[in-house]
Amino acid sequence: MKNILSMSQLSNEEVYSLIDSAEKFKAGKKSMIGTDKFAINLFFENSTRTKSSFQVAEMKLGMKEIEFEASTSSTTKGESLYDTIKTEESIGASVAIIRHSQDKYYEDLVNNHNLNIHIINGGDGTGQHPSQSLLDLMTIFEHFGKFDGLKIGIIGDLSHSRVAHSNAEILTRLGAQVCFGGLDAWYTPEFAEMGPHMDVDDLCREMDVVMLLRVQHERLSEEENKNFSKTDYFNKYGLNKERVNMMKADAMIMHPAPINRGAEIADDVVECDKSYIFPQMANGVFMRMAMIEAVLEGDNVRDEATDQERQ
Ligand code: CP
Repeated sequence: MKNILSMSQLSNEEVYSLIDSAEKFKAGKKSMIGTDKFAINLFFENSTRTKSSFQVAEMKLGMKEIEFEASTSSTTKGESLYDTIKTEESIGASVAIIRHSQDKYYEDLVNNHNLNIHIINGGDGTGQHPSQSLLDLMTIFEHFGKFDGLKIGIIGDLSHSRVAHSNAEILTRLGAQVCFGGLDAWYTPEFAEMGPHMDVDDLCREMDVVMLLRVQHERLSEEENKNFSKTDYFNKYGLNKERVNMMKADAMIMHPAPINRGAEIADDVVECDKSYIFPQMANGVFMRMAMIEAVLEGDNVRDEATDQERQ
């Protein structure tokens, strides 16, 4: 695959293949990617774990990172996203990880230009977050060994969440039953098509995975933020110890993070026995290694062919 832009682009076979590849890296598989490959992490929205984890993945693969900070780049002088990427391609980057506030920013890049650099979407607006979704799938598959028949409850700010958009679609396609919780206003028609909206206590009792989402205050209107009460939200929708005790014995708690302790999850639940929040982050490095390897695979084949022609 040349690029990884959204979960809907990946076939089920490609998803399972990426999980398998990530597990092999986790088990100690060494990379076949040459040290002459450069990666650039173009983050135009803030990030802690996605950016750090792609950086570690690139280093573990033997690649070198071209440093980039949006705030000190020439995008502040008006340079376009396309010109930025074309510049990095010209300089020698093989793969660009991009996070951008604009939904589907990648469509213009791949449909209207002939770029010779691989793009991995590190999150677009409220659209898609394929690397988060794939690491979530890896973590669920490690625990249950399947998706078919699992009940997954996604609770929180659905409409603004690229994690909810990515995960609801792929989990449904892989045979899981997806259910939703949180404010009614966030349960938009696209989610209603995929699964029911349920009371949070019922979700905790019935689900195999309880996946929590942060309230994305940066994407709420001034009015919505003014009317938001953290305490009310926590009491109605937050995961506290009482709700954890309702969960099935082998159920998982997941959260893409960053976490708002005391809003969607209680402080003393974040690292409880059922929580896979930090294991998700650990798996993220191996999944991102698998994703980078997958987009570069064709290039390596071409490189080897060129080497053979030279001999
Ligand atoms: N889960 C996630 O995307 O976290 P960051 O915003 O810190 O990258």
